Amino acid sequence: MSTANQSAVVADAPEDNAIAAEVLAGLRSSPKRIAPKFFYDKKGSELFDAITELDEYYVPRVEKQIFAAHAADMCSAIGPGSTVIEPGAGSCEKIAWLLPELAPELYVPMDISAEHLEHSAAVLGEQHPQLAIRPQVCDHTAGLTLQDKLPAGKRVFFYPGSSVGNFEPTDAVAFMQRMRALMDGDGGLLIGVDAKKDPQVLHAAYNDADDVTAAFNLNVLDHLNNELDGDLDTDHFEHHALYNEQAGRIEMHLRCTASHTAELAGEPIEFAAGELVHTENSYKYHPDEFAALGEQAGLKPKSCWQDSRGWFSVLYLEPA
Ligand code: AVJ
Repeated sequence: MSTANQSAVVADAPEDNAIAAEVLAGLRSSPKRIAPKFFYDKKGSELFDAITELDEYYVPRVEKQIFAAHAADMCSAIGPGSTVIEPGAGSCEKIAWLLPELAPELYVPMDISAEHLEHSAAVLGEQHPQLAIRPQVCDHTAGLTLQDKLPAGKRVFFYPGSSVGNFEPTDAVAFMQRMRALMDGDGGLLIGVDAKKDPQVLHAAYNDADDVTAAFNLNVLDHLNNELDGDLDTDHFEHHALYNEQAGRIEMHLRCTASHTAELAGEPIEFAAGELVHTENSYKYHPDEFAALGEQAGLKPKSCWQDSRGWFSVLYLEPA
């Protein structure tokens, strides 16, 4: 499926053996870890969509409220005619919150999955025939690169959903520095950031009563099995998520319940009973904390929008 306003996907996908090397390195380190980008195979993306429907997982609802209340303000802060680049765009649904008012010259959704990206870009293109779309396959967590021939107009990065929480704070600064460099002096970053709040609210958001988050966490093992011909057994692991108040982050782990050896990409991997495999951090920042990170990247907040409880914020940052 492809529409007139949407060009073919530009590919920049990692090789299978590069993926194997990355995953094996994570499982050979101590403590073991798997990067959160591996959550999102087809099943994982469906489970994440189910998470966004949970009562406990307030993030999408609160963020959507903020956009609904302030989209006009956001559009005027950004101005028309920009090239909007969305790393990790997934289903490309959130940019529609700013359309048609934002009136960008070009929208560049980026995602690690070519298939998902192509489909979502085509759906968006049908709903917004005036919008020029140029999807680009890119693992922005491994390095953000742009295609050569983008319009000369200003570049605005769009990074909603509090995805920035998956980075270590120093890596978030490096990621913003990279975007700052690609802005070329004139541009901006519209970013959604989840705030610190009552630890019980945060705990519940990642330990839902229906165990959807648990299924999402465990699915990473099935994804790796499919991708790297492995026999990781979900029955030997359980979901473990906690709020680390000291670090200001939710941590997700898979706890091994019985000592065993599994195989992945032809390599044996030993697991001890009780051992944790770290699968995700989700950092929470007050807007002023986040502004301080932006400042380290040479960006200063022009505007900040929040919900009435201060649970989530959307910031627009520009080169300082
Ligand atoms: C997509 C990274 C914003 O950290 O809240 C949801 C992922 N993990 N439940 C988050 C997630 C478990 C989510 N982000």
